[in-house]
Amino acid sequence: MNRDRINKILNQIPTHFIIIFMILIWVVPTLGLLITSLRPVQAVNTSGWWTVLSPPRGSAEYNQYCASCHGVEGIAITNADLTDPELISRFPRSLQLLATLRADINSQPHMQDTPVPEDQAAADIAVHLKKISGIDEQPRFTFSNYIDALVGYRGTRSYQKDCAAGTAPLDIHCDTSDLLNPRGMGRAFVNSLLVTIPATFLPILFAAFAGYAFAWLDFKGRFLLFSILVGLQVVPLQMTLVPISRLYAQLGLNGTFLGVWLFHTGFGMPYAIYLMRNFLGSLPRDLFESAYLDGASHWTAFYQLVIPLAMPAIASLGIFQFLWVWNDLLVALVFLGGTTPVMTYQISNMVTSLGAGWQLLTASAFLSMLLPMIVFFALQRYFVRGMLAGAVKG
Ligand code: HEC
Repeated sequence: MNRDRINKILNQIPTHFIIIFMILIWVVPTLGLLITSLRPVQAVNTSGWWTVLSPPRGSAEYNQYCASCHGVEGIAITNADLTDPELISRFPRSLQLLATLRADINSQPHMQDTPVPEDQAAADIAVHLKKISGIDEQPRFTFSNYIDALVGYRGTRSYQKDCAAGTAPLDIHCDTSDLLNPRGMGRAFVNSLLVTIPATFLPILFAAFAGYAFAWLDFKGRFLLFSILVGLQVVPLQMTLVPISRLYAQLGLNGTFLGVWLFHTGFGMPYAIYLMRNFLGSLPRDLFESAYLDGASHWTAFYQLVIPLAMPAIASLGIFQFLWVWNDLLVALVFLGGTTPVMTYQISNMVTSLGAGWQLLTASAFLSMLLPMIVFFALQRYFVRGMLAGAVKG
């Protein structure tokens, strides 16, 4: 290696550190969220997600105090088989266990020379005994948070347990139709898709037309109109909620998908037109002139030239608009409300005001992240190109 290359690599080290640091900053919490969403409720409430890899609770204490006589497996003394659920169910709390440990066996101290464990250790041992005897069969990981969130279970009860015991509420049928329960994320996912796909597609389609017109059609007041459109970007969305919902009330559009599509289209278009015009305006003029000379109409020029060439801009706009509409709560809340809940609405309803049920929140958050992540990774190679194209030439 020559000196230049070494220098180059050395110079890059700070950049690499910053990039790695930035990746860690979002990957670690995301991983924590994912792990939490896969843990059983009790575990979520009692220990942090980073403890999943530590040894299970109580096994160390058990080995320290009890394994010398009862064996590591708990079956060394046949008269007192600690893996026997019947025996262990006699000690529902660590108090009873401590009493047994303090009592004499055949007029000898139970634990002989070993000191009896103090309260905390005894509680941990009790947990361990419940686990090895299979009374409290609690898996380390479970999908039950996802299932509960999908079918719309709230609080700390569990869909699977309720359905197995036949104690599910009336609106739960314990079959696949529960996925469409209006309180669940399954139904909300469908609603979110129904809102997001047209609300992404429509503004981009109109913006592509308008961008083409602003860039390549000569008409009067072109610059003025474009300036007005650019200026419209500063109008805050909240300002229009009242007039639009009054208008929608007259038109009967409140609570309909059409109303939301129109709203998002209206608010997506100024920026989309701005970006499309800049992108299309930066395409070489010769391209269009030779196309027109060959007898192409504006229509063919648009379909054959503009759409393929503008793919990077369309993709990056698509990502932006998709994410915005998908994560939007305000518009969905005002114009759709609870009758047609979307995912953001459902998530905001997941947790009770007392904070119970946040294991469901982790699962719902992950469910609602899934599609944006897929869209982002599918379109990301266009994304950078589209951003640069809009920014460099204006
Ligand atoms: C010095 C050896 C020794 C140690 C240490 C010891 N045990 Fe025992 N344990 C015994 C013997 C012996 C019996 C009685 C077996 C019988 O009934 O004949 C017994 C019985 C038991 C029983 C059954 C009691 C009953 O009422 O039937 C339980 C439960 C138990 N041990 C739990 C523990 C736990 C938990 C620990 C650790 C904190 C522990 N033991 C530590 C020797 C020991």
